[in-house]
Amino acid sequence: MRLDVVTIFPEYLSPLDLSLIGKARREGLIDLAVHDLRYFTHDRHRTVDDNPYGGGAGMVMRPEPWGEALAHVMGAGEHGAVPHLLVPGPGGVRFTQAMARELAAEPWLAFACGRYEGIDERVVDEARCHMPVTVVSVGDYVLGGGEVAVLVMVEAIARLVPGVIGNADSLVEESHEDGLLEYPVFTKPPQWRGRGIPEVLLSGHHGQIARWRRDERLRRTALSRPDMIARLDPADLDARDREVLAEVAEVQACGGSQTQGTQFQADPPAVAD
Ligand code: ADE
Repeated sequence: MRLDVVTIFPEYLSPLDLSLIGKARREGLIDLAVHDLRYFTHDRHRTVDDNPYGGGAGMVMRPEPWGEALAHVMGAGEHGAVPHLLVPGPGGVRFTQAMARELAAEPWLAFACGRYEGIDERVVDEARCHMPVTVVSVGDYVLGGGEVAVLVMVEAIARLVPGVIGNADSLVEESHEDGLLEYPVFTKPPQWRGRGIPEVLLSGHHGQIARWRRDERLRRTALSRPDMIARLDPADLDARDREVLAEVAEVQACGGSQTQGTQFQADPPAVAD
């Protein structure tokens, strides 16, 4: 997979030299190039921003360097190939595991990291005439720029590229893969600070272990992400699943919550349209 990132802070992307993604790059599974937007400026100060038309706070990224930078990225395409351009921004569609999976199947992604108040809107409009473009948000909060969002997206996408993770089994029961959060995990030592591990995990009984893990996934999801439980297809729930969910609901109705002690509450389930 080829990845291009355009930014005014190329060093921000240096974590992509490390760990799984660094290894995938060295092994040639991922071909990642980071481009400095200022390289595509032509004035002494290498200016990339200016005041917003119409007034208001902050600065806006000028379109000219972006136009040249994106033309440079596209120029690397052979036989008319173009990248899918992802523009991180808090006003975009929400980045999800499902989107990461779809993007991991694409051969070429490019990322345009905005800073300040954003990139002149004409850049995205113009880019749409040449390649698929998606404005993507990594969550309902505002970052200082797109770089961290790109780190998030590249990490989520690259680990799904075949060969990047040695043991593909570890991708199967992950949080968000099938609408449930992950089960808790334990390793040695069997006793730590007076805390043991759930007996069933020592039983060697694969069926019981699988059931316990599903129970835990359902419990955790019901507690932290009731919106995800609301989206489950009832046809996918067996009798034991329903029992576990009823138990959680009962504990919560009585005022007890395993999430007690946190000032943050789970989002309520989304109201169906
Ligand atoms: N840039 C600023 N905030 C962002 C967000 N929430 N997601 C993606 N890019 C952003």
